[in-house]
Amino acid sequence: MSSKKRIFSGVQPSGNLHIGNYLGAIANWVKLQDSYESIFCVVDMHAITVPQDPEILRKKSIEIAKIYLAAGIDPKKSLIFIQSQVSEHAELMWILNTIAKMSELEKMTQFKDKSQKEGKEGAAVGLFDYPVLMAADILLYDTQVVPVGEDQKQHVELARDLAKRFNNKFGDTFIVPEVHIKKEGMRVMGLDNPEKKMSKSAESIYNRIELLDDAEMIRKKIRKAVTDSGSEIIYRDDKPALKNLINIYSSFSGKTPKEIEAMFVGKGYGDFKSELAEVIIAFLESFQARYNALSDKEVMKILNKGADKVRPIARKKLDEVKTKIGFIV
Ligand code: TYM
Repeated sequence: MSSKKRIFSGVQPSGNLHIGNYLGAIANWVKLQDSYESIFCVVDMHAITVPQDPEILRKKSIEIAKIYLAAGIDPKKSLIFIQSQVSEHAELMWILNTIAKMSELEKMTQFKDKSQKEGKEGAAVGLFDYPVLMAADILLYDTQVVPVGEDQKQHVELARDLAKRFNNKFGDTFIVPEVHIKKEGMRVMGLDNPEKKMSKSAESIYNRIELLDDAEMIRKKIRKAVTDSGSEIIYRDDKPALKNLINIYSSFSGKTPKEIEAMFVGKGYGDFKSELAEVIIAFLESFQARYNALSDKEVMKILNKGADKVRPIARKKLDEVKTKIGFIV
């Protein structure tokens, strides 16, 4: 392994990616790729834990990879690949399943949220087991650092626990990974409800700004975004809707919340919102130009190359694990 530490992270090809995914995760990866050996995955096996249309899933997987590239992930520096193309993930997951406990999976807040619709009884076993697959993704590559948004912290902690448990039982095998959460953007909240995170699966499109939204749609969504009582532009915890919008403004403009407050003294929500929309549009227009310039064919080439490069790393680790637990390799 090179002297650089290794990072691993991924996004599910389900729903439409939004600025929360960008600010909470992908923007951070772009910065980190210079100082870490980086592996970024399109986690299609995670996506099928809830029903997916096969044709749409295939298209979305390529779309996510295009988003990585358009955001600035450089295939010369980082490896990107599709999870289901490296079957070692599923194999390691099975083995980790035998040391993971029902009680720890039952504590996972994402499972509690996502199983609400069908009820726990109707939820797929895969949805319940999803964090173990995520642990396999991470541990397979001797990952040292996992850059994610705040909502994934609990899952990375499970990966840490499983790594330690396996190491205790079978001897040093896995690196215990650290979670890396960037303070800004770690939790972008819904535009329609600042108490809940912006989400691909929220029913209303007015919950999120999608990375592929056009300018008119962005203006409309920002206009409709909920605000708090009052009319001043102030950054305070008791104004969670405004705080979220100022955070978004700050992330895309590089200005601090204090500077933004100062810019809008004597102005109201209307002025603030129209400028916020333009700041987001300016960023997304150039992002989308890069996105649209990428062909499916060239992206598939990058993904296939990525899978070919990560497979031997994954195979080596899996063989080590299999040997340790008594399988004949
Ligand atoms: P996913 O696809 O739900 O989200 C992808 C990334 O976006 C971050 N994120 C947010 N950040 C800030 N504010 C928000 N509103 C927001 N919504 C989402 C997430 O924290 C995440 O970093 N289980 C993972 C994917 C995964 C993975 C892995 C990640 C599978 N295997 C291994 C790291 C390592 C997930 O569903 O992310």
